[in-house]
Amino acid sequence: MSDTVTIIDNRTGKQVECPVIKGTYGPPVIDTNALYKELGMFTFDPGYASTASCRSAITYLDGEQGILQYRGYPIEQLAEHSNFLEVCYLLINGELPNKVQLDDWENSIKLYGMTHEHLSRFYNGYRYDAHPMSIMAGVVGAVASYYHDVTDIWDADSRLMTAKRVIGKIPSIASRCYRYEAGFPFVYPDNSRGYIENFMNMMFSRPSEKYQPSAIAIRALDLLFILHADHEQNASTSTVRMAGSAETNPFACIAAGIATLWGKAHGGANEAVILMLEEIAEPKNIQKFVNRAKDKNDPFRLMGFGHRVYKNHDPRATIIRQACHDLLDEMHLNLPMFEIAMELERIALEDDYFIERKLYPNVDFYSGLIYQALGIPSNMFTVMFTLARSAGWIAQWIELMEDKEFRIARPRQIYIGSEKRDFVPMDQRA
Ligand code: CMC
Repeated sequence: MSDTVTIIDNRTGKQVECPVIKGTYGPPVIDTNALYKELGMFTFDPGYASTASCRSAITYLDGEQGILQYRGYPIEQLAEHSNFLEVCYLLINGELPNKVQLDDWENSIKLYGMTHEHLSRFYNGYRYDAHPMSIMAGVVGAVASYYHDVTDIWDADSRLMTAKRVIGKIPSIASRCYRYEAGFPFVYPDNSRGYIENFMNMMFSRPSEKYQPSAIAIRALDLLFILHADHEQNASTSTVRMAGSAETNPFACIAAGIATLWGKAHGGANEAVILMLEEIAEPKNIQKFVNRAKDKNDPFRLMGFGHRVYKNHDPRATIIRQACHDLLDEMHLNLPMFEIAMELERIALEDDYFIERKLYPNVDFYSGLIYQALGIPSNMFTVMFTLARSAGWIAQWIELMEDKEFRIARPRQIYIGSEKRDFVPMDQRA
């Protein structure tokens, strides 16, 4: 049996043999590259539901089985045994580091933690109540201006240095988005602290008092960052790759990814979940919201439910759900919102509407609850996601730049507009 699929144009009898590509796992993929040349036809796949946009060796996920692996390592094992910076190394370099490599990696990320002093002035251009994701997109885009001439996107060392810059600088940039709105002075990185602890210090410390985050809080944030670090070709990662394919500056690519992540169908869902739980306010109102989510005439959706790929369970959600329980227990916190979330989850999971459509709680249903328990304001939740996902974005950008099949991404369309018509002078228009 040949590894091809024959596509026949029944109108003309013309046919084309399309090679079938197999990855390590996952469904076989029909290579339709020759379709236009041979048959003069495009493929149409709204939302890319059946389209593989690239070959990638970084992350594998199986939505039916609820599997997520970074470079082959199951997310459950990384969550239990690794830490965020080690995961960054893995995503970018392809292998787990040995002790020397990890020490070297951590030190070099620290070296790149500072940002140019002038960058701090960019924040002043924003309204006092600007959404921090708007600030993130703008300021990260602005970083491109500091490294434009010195970044050679075709040089492997330069790409690796860019990755270190992104991972090193993003905590400082993110913390400043919060402090700008809160009216607190900016805090510089403190290299005597670990990556997560340093970020928390830049977020929460005050000039007037000493600050030391608890080990529980550091571990909870580290876990969330591991789980959010990469998720193959989602909307924001595809945006980063799309921008990168035009050979643009990598910081500008990341800024484009941030803009996409902000949307509430994507990374913005973690903030939307908390806003929804606040609106529900009391367990007695839950059914009303579930009914609204099921009503076709109401655009409301249950935030934190459903996923394009996971149709069984989101493995990140399973880990985070347990972590959320553990954290609240350890911190002796009694969040009323957590009770509402658990009850909402129970009601939705027993409802035929959600069962038939395979709508399960996703990672964002629980992540906001952890962020809230850690004292992070809800409008910063998607910024937290950005911090973690920057690792995946830059790993994917590097893979794109090293791809032998590198070409500018240029989808086609089905034109449904007017047929050709002549320009109408103003005095003859209706
Ligand atoms: N609440 C109620 N109904 C829903 C929901 C929901 N959250 N999600 C999907 N549906 C329904 C939808 O109305 C449709 O029903 P029908 O078949 O009767 O028309 C069916 O389920 C399939 O939905 P879809 O819009 O075709 O699914 P999609 O794959 O295009 O969208 C999604 C995936 C995540 C955008 C969507 O489930 C959603 O909007 N969820 C809420 C937002 C959310 O939690 N997003 C975070 C995703 S995880 C974090 C990340 O990776 O970014």
